[in-house]
Amino acid sequence: MASLVNPSSIPAIQTLDLVKIYKGKKKKQIQALNSLNLSVEQGMTFGFVGPNGAGKTTTIKILCGLGFQTSGKALLMGKPSAFPEARKSIGYLSEVASYSPYFVAEELLTAYGKLQNLAVSASQEKAEKLLKMVGLYDRRKSRLGEFSKGMLQRFGIAQALLHDPSILILDEPTSGLDPIGRQEVLKILHDLKKTGLTLFFSSHQLIEVEGLCDYVGIIDSGDLIFRGTLAELEAQETDSPFLIRLKLSSEQRISFNFPLLFQRNLEDHVQEIGVERNLLDKALNDIHSSGGEVVAVFPQKFPLEEIFVKLISKHAGSKAP
Ligand SMILES: Nc1ncnc2c1ncn2[C@@H]1O[C@H](COP(=O)(O)OP(=O)(O)OP(=O)(O)O)[C@@H](O)[C@H]1O
Ligand SMILES: [Mg+2]
Repeated sequence: MASLVNPSSIPAIQTLDLVKIYKGKKKKQIQALNSLNLSVEQGMTFGFVGPNGAGKTTTIKILCGLGFQTSGKALLMGKPSAFPEARKSIGYLSEVASYSPYFVAEELLTAYGKLQNLAVSASQEKAEKLLKMVGLYDRRKSRLGEFSKGMLQRFGIAQALLHDPSILILDEPTSGLDPIGRQEVLKILHDLKKTGLTLFFSSHQLIEVEGLCDYVGIIDSGDLIFRGTLAELEAQETDSPFLIRLKLSSEQRISFNFPLLFQRNLEDHVQEIGVERNLLDKALNDIHSSGGEVVAVFPQKFPLEEIFVKLISKHAGSKAP
């Protein structure tokens, strides 16, 4: 009988009420995940963002079968991640990828390919293709001990892709990299996104996922405190300030009897002021009654990092005893 489930509608990654409690020293219980519910559709690029200790690595380890949940479900293409069969669909790059410094890049990648049951020639071809993709082909004969941290991360991505996974899971792939190393890794992720691969990666920084991720999940202290697009996250900010551009004639003077966020003069008697949202009407009235002309009014977006910090602080406040 044909299956009634459309395979493309099965989430690539799903967690259902996922709980993880570690046992610390003196039997102290550390709740790393509190009923985490995540769903990542096939082909989606998902950024899993949170501060230190939020639970990102714990979630990723459970998804990759390297750790076990206390309760709840972790599914890959609908199958429990604890099943080896389910994990065939994933490629994984850990938080700290470490390799013996004596291996030559091309030889090690080819050897990994053989471990994946590829024939020698197929394995060599695959290694060559992947080294090109991650920009390391020119360094294929180098020992890994000569690689920078950024190059090792890119090598790790190549390794994770050897068996053609449909889901790539990366734990903080840009952590500890300089801006150029970070851009190189992000460029690879942008290229991979175009191939239709499901990408799931963790980061400390919301700004990093901008322009790359279809969806973000923000996790703090084991709680998923936001899931959606960055546009939806920004739209939650209903108290953002406004910029007003105004024009006064040479004789006109205007003073506001409330604090402005900023005031700057542009040319031709045009100036810009910043006002809190609740003072917008008052500012517009003051401009009109002084005979000034309002040229434009723009809502000011908060920087993503500011939104992130506010969200985390609010969540921490809600959990405080
Ligand atoms: N093996 C372990 N034993 C006990 N507690 C642990 C263990 N691993 C993680 N934890 C705790 O679980 C919580 C979540 O840790 P996790 O490593 O998942 O966070 P993270 O979001 O990956 O942080 P980071 O950004 O620093 O990598 C933290 O409180 C951490 O101390
Ligand atoms: Mg981590």
